[in-house]
Amino acid sequence: MCTRVGIIGASGFVGGELLRILLSHPHVEVRVATSREFKGEYVFRVHPHLRGKTMLKFVEPNIDLISKECDYVFLAVPHGQSLHLVPKLLEVGLKVLDLSADYRLKDPEAYVKWYDWKEPHPYPDLLKKAVYGLPEIHREEIRNADLVAVPGCMSTAGILSLLPLVKHDLIETSRIVIDVKIGSSGAGAHAPRLDLHSYRTYVIRPYEVTEHRHIAEIEQELSLVAGKPVQVAFTPHAVDVVRGILATSHSWAKRPLTEPDLWKAFRSTYGNEPFIRIAKDKTGLHRYPDIKYVIGSNYCDVGFEIDSRTGRIVTFAAIDNLMKGAAGQAVQCMNIMLKIDEKTGLDMTPLFPV
Ligand SMILES: NC(=O)c1ccc[n+]([C@@H]2O[C@H](COP(=O)([O-])OP(=O)(O)OC[C@H]3O[C@@H](n4cnc5c(N)ncnc54)[C@H](OP(=O)(O)O)[C@@H]3O)[C@@H](O)[C@H]2O)c1
Repeated sequence: MCTRVGIIGASGFVGGELLRILLSHPHVEVRVATSREFKGEYVFRVHPHLRGKTMLKFVEPNIDLISKECDYVFLAVPHGQSLHLVPKLLEVGLKVLDLSADYRLKDPEAYVKWYDWKEPHPYPDLLKKAVYGLPEIHREEIRNADLVAVPGCMSTAGILSLLPLVKHDLIETSRIVIDVKIGSSGAGAHAPRLDLHSYRTYVIRPYEVTEHRHIAEIEQELSLVAGKPVQVAFTPHAVDVVRGILATSHSWAKRPLTEPDLWKAFRSTYGNEPFIRIAKDKTGLHRYPDIKYVIGSNYCDVGFEIDSRTGRIVTFAAIDNLMKGAAGQAVQCMNIMLKIDEKTGLDMTPLFPV
């Protein structure tokens, strides 16, 4: 039997990517796709790559309709917009995967600090129930979750670049720098002026250099794994690509480390992970992760190098922000909740060349 799903915010970039995956998913039927702006319009008129794949039309978000038509619902709306929708969707018995930031931070006060909200998170009990949807850390909790808070795209890359080091207690946890490059689709389909083509082309532009919101969830999750506070310095850069995130993380070893130490940590953390590939070659053209080789797939390519002169460890994670950074990760979580093979509907090879 097919699982019936709905997507709130289906006209955006993440909504479009959810449709691309879910319309070909063998265990799923997409029943509802919402857009207020495009209500009544065929989905393929907004997402032309889906022409011939569906005759679905956008409808306005309506909880009664979604509760009647769907078992699972994905929220691909801006942060702040999921906040009050999520409790209503849970109340009518739906399983909810929220791709906004509204249920990612466990501390209700953190929402005020990082998301400029006027008051603490209004649903602290739901924050406790929400599971952070990163299978590489929370697979068992995701299995039985009603509400999954799907991680941010840059947070996913940042966390996965460092997880083996933190898990195996190999680095100083107060001295970590994450440098991120991100493509323009990360800003969504309603992007501000600086993400218009004329401004974005040819750009390598640092932004939100010391205060990006994803710091909060990266520190939350790495601290949980470490069992003690982890502090990260994080700086993103807008670059001239449409899709893709590369996180380059710099940390300092607690003791002199060798390559076999790092291989051991990476293999034991990621050896059985269906979407993590270790890209670390001594020879050849492609020695480290590169966004060019993950685009269109749910893979996260990770890699590492030791700077023995300074004691620095350099680690990498490359993802497609719309896949492992958003829609792909959300579907991976749904597969886990449905207790089916995690790779179902997601086993696509990256596009090359792009
Ligand atoms: N882009 C990425 O790489 C990425 C990665 C990870 C997570 N995310 C997160 O995923 C969410 C969606 O991102 P996006 O890039 O797809 O944004 P987007 O392209 O701007 O799309 C936003 C969607 O939300 C809908 N929407 C806006 N306000 C709404 C409301 N009050 N009620 C119902 N629908 C509403 C919009 O449609 P209508 O206005 O027509 O209803 C549109 O379909 C955001 O929270 C974002 O932070 C994005």
